[in-house]
Amino acid sequence: MENNCENNLHSDSVANMLKKLSSLWKHRAAINNEQLDYESSYFDPLKKDFSEDLLPFSKHGAWQEASDEMKSKTLSYAWGIYNLKTIYIECDIVTPACEDIIKAPSSAFEDKMIVQEVMSEALLDEALHTRMSISACNYIYTMRNLEPLNFSDFNLVQWRRRIISECTSEWERRLTRFAIACASETLITDYLKVMSEDTSIQNICHEVTKAHAIDEWSHSSVFSYVALDVVKSLNTKEKIYLRDTLRKTIDVFASNELGAWETVLKLINFPNYKDIIADTGDNNEISIYVESVEAIIDRIGINENKIYVSR
Ligand SMILES: [Fe+2]
Ligand SMILES: [Fe+2]
Repeated sequence: MENNCENNLHSDSVANMLKKLSSLWKHRAAINNEQLDYESSYFDPLKKDFSEDLLPFSKHGAWQEASDEMKSKTLSYAWGIYNLKTIYIECDIVTPACEDIIKAPSSAFEDKMIVQEVMSEALLDEALHTRMSISACNYIYTMRNLEPLNFSDFNLVQWRRRIISECTSEWERRLTRFAIACASETLITDYLKVMSEDTSIQNICHEVTKAHAIDEWSHSSVFSYVALDVVKSLNTKEKIYLRDTLRKTIDVFASNELGAWETVLKLINFPNYKDIIADTGDNNEISIYVESVEAIIDRIGINENKIYVSR
């Protein structure tokens, strides 16, 4: 679907593409389908709860020498970190941007009603994803008899709070909220793809991630079409600001969240955890991430080659 939308980007109007996405949502979105049933799912204690390849320290000597029990516990907490970060992205990053547009749609929108419609659908999806994430990590904590992770200082959320506080005008604040949400909606799709394709992990973890990934494929299209409309009302300075904020989000989104990892490794008393934290850098899979956000920047016509001829 996403490819169809992209191919038609220049031959169909934004409003028509959003109408198509909205009609797909009625059949395809997780919220309009049967919910996962945790009671009947089969929990396999021998299976990993998270993809080991996604750990930022999977090549570190202290990790490779650790016992299977310690590794299993760490992977369960990796599932906890991943879900908690997802919850923060849904609640603190995507939800406020959806609300901005629903409450006061820009006059530049080709069809305000359809933009409000798709954004309210995305908002419903994100509420369900928050519920899916909290149920999924609590399920694993319960099955593994682990103390739930208590952590709130994710780099992405802290950074967003800081740059919004440094904005000097309302247009800047609103555009910042939109840019970070727009980049995050693309980046989360890339991230979920890895987990949703890994069938070796705990079945429920794979299923939850797959259901979320299907919704996010649509969201990244929704946000890039809405961005096409948003861009129409921006002057050159605002377009450059949007482009720079989209790019800055990539680095922070890809953060290894070492603060969360330090909390976890200390909690489970992982051998030599201080070495792991000291030796692990903060950036991860940046090249993949850059590609998807750069594609949006290009599609909405705000890359360096296009920006100065458009207005
Ligand atoms: Fe989501
Ligand atoms: Fe989303």
